[in-house]
Amino acid sequence: MQQALALALALAFTATAAPVATTEQPTPTRTFALSGDLYGPATLRGYDPSLPFSTEDTAIPEDKIVYASGQASDTIGAPFDFKNVPTPQPIRGTKGGTDPGPKQPEIDKTHPDILAPPQSDHGDVPQLNWPMDLSHVKTGLNRGGWSRQENLRVMPAADEFAGVDMRLEPGAYRELHWHTSGEWAYIINGSARIGAVNTDGQSFYDDVTKGDVWFFPPGIPHYIQGLENGTEFLLIFDDGNFSEDETFLVSEMFQRTPIDVWAGQLDLPVSAFADLPDGELFIFNGTEAPKNVAEQNITGPAGSIPNEESFSYHWSLQEPLVAPGGTVKILDTNTFPIATDFSVALVTIKPGAIREVHWHPSSDEWSYFIQGRARMSVYVAPGNARTFDFGPGDVGYVPKVCSHYIQNIGDEEVILLEVLKQKQFTDVSAGQWLGLIPPQVLKDHLHLSDESISKLSKEKPYVVQGSKIVQ
Ligand SMILES: *[C@@H]1O[C@H](CO)[C@@H](O)[C@H](O)[C@H]1NC(C)=O
Ligand SMILES: *[C@@H]1O[C@H](CO)[C@@H](O)[C@H](O)[C@H]1NC(C)=O
Ligand SMILES: *[C@@H]1O[C@H](CO)[C@@H](O)[C@H](O)[C@H]1NC(C)=O
Ligand SMILES: *[C@@H]1O[C@H](CO)[C@@H](O)[C@H](O)[C@H]1NC(C)=O
Ligand SMILES: *[C@@H]1O[C@H](CO)[C@@H](O)[C@H](O)[C@H]1NC(C)=O
Repeated sequence: MQQALALALALAFTATAAPVATTEQPTPTRTFALSGDLYGPATLRGYDPSLPFSTEDTAIPEDKIVYASGQASDTIGAPFDFKNVPTPQPIRGTKGGTDPGPKQPEIDKTHPDILAPPQSDHGDVPQLNWPMDLSHVKTGLNRGGWSRQENLRVMPAADEFAGVDMRLEPGAYRELHWHTSGEWAYIINGSARIGAVNTDGQSFYDDVTKGDVWFFPPGIPHYIQGLENGTEFLLIFDDGNFSEDETFLVSEMFQRTPIDVWAGQLDLPVSAFADLPDGELFIFNGTEAPKNVAEQNITGPAGSIPNEESFSYHWSLQEPLVAPGGTVKILDTNTFPIATDFSVALVTIKPGAIREVHWHPSSDEWSYFIQGRARMSVYVAPGNARTFDFGPGDVGYVPKVCSHYIQNIGDEEVILLEVLKQKQFTDVSAGQWLGLIPPQVLKDHLHLSDESISKLSKEKPYVVQGSKIVQ
């Protein structure tokens, strides 16, 4: 580095000024024992009967293929369980073929519908699944925690929302900051203290725990501190281009404003700022918060933020609606008016059950899988569909008006968030729609029998139990 700099300076001087004594350059001595050539001979181009070729047999004989149950004969698009299949193959019924490799069977096992898509898949649908486990981790200072994010740089179709998964160790902070987007947050684990101040000088402090929610509008400065057992939470921003690297930080605000302005504005001597941090704090360790949040409830003449504008909602305490195959609870501006751009459903789906075929007429959907294994097919007119598999920590995305379902394909309950960018959570239930169509019209379209039509429901079930169809 120093050598390069010395060389650059020497060159700069020789280029601009009259004879200057150049310093003597050390001669590099390191050598590598490279052998062979980078390129092959021109004689390898084209046909030559004398050239040898690989005689390895790549065919996998039928009796050596291990199929998942139903895989060899599938005609109904059922989910496969590759758990006990050593090397799952891209075969469904009569379609596909063997894959001798290279491959990573562990990925195939968790993504059976990517390897062997149901025959209902068709055409080109953009990537609508991003595992946070593949996101770059941004590490905080002094073991304070970390964050990782999904945005349109990693999933270009997800242009309406971005998500951040963040961990704060006990006492650690996400530093005082603000940003251009609104921030809706769900606590995945542990508890946190949050604080914010609005444009009227009203302040807000609260402690939130696993299953609770907060929202900070664009531009409103806030901070988050992990309580004694630490916390992990999910931040959802109403802009697909959002990046955690582009937030406004209190540390940088001090570094990017002349000290004489701070000294003047805060009426302090310049020496008061001698210990300001170098660079960003972002996530860093701190002193533990006092147990009682009331001790940190600083208010000014404008008082606290009024209840109807509360930045927190203790969603963990809301009892869900119990559906035939799981549960649903909704948080939107009906009960949490400050979060005007966000309406969210927390859905649980029992093993084998299905969050029914539905679509959202006026918003894209950003979803996050907290627990379990699921698959989702998205039908995108005209004519296209693709099926994706999800596990804990995965983000899903469904463009506006595209029909989709979420089926639990694992052994434990699926828990997920469905996030819409609108004031009220809305969806069209395919089952309810069909139940409200005159039977004659339905028969003319789909050729269903009277008996089948009599089983349709006029209600929206949200999550149905479904039944495992053995082939
Ligand atoms: C919460 O943290 C505990 C302790 O590390 C862990 O066992 C549990 O799985 C976590 N919960 C979730 C939802 O990840
Ligand atoms: C931290 O964990 C301990 C042990 O489980 C529990 O007693 C305590 O209430 C927890 N504190 C918080 C703030 O959750
Ligand atoms: C996202 O941000 C980048 C850089 O900030 C910009 O070049 C790009 O046009 C933006 N994309 C969208 C879809 O807004
Ligand atoms: C944060 O960690 C550093 C390094 O371990 C330590 O010197 C410092 O005192 C800690 N700060 C706080 C506020 O605990
Ligand atoms: C803070 O004080 C205000 C008014 O005195 C009160 O309404 C609010 O509930 C307090 N918040 C906390 C976290 O103690």
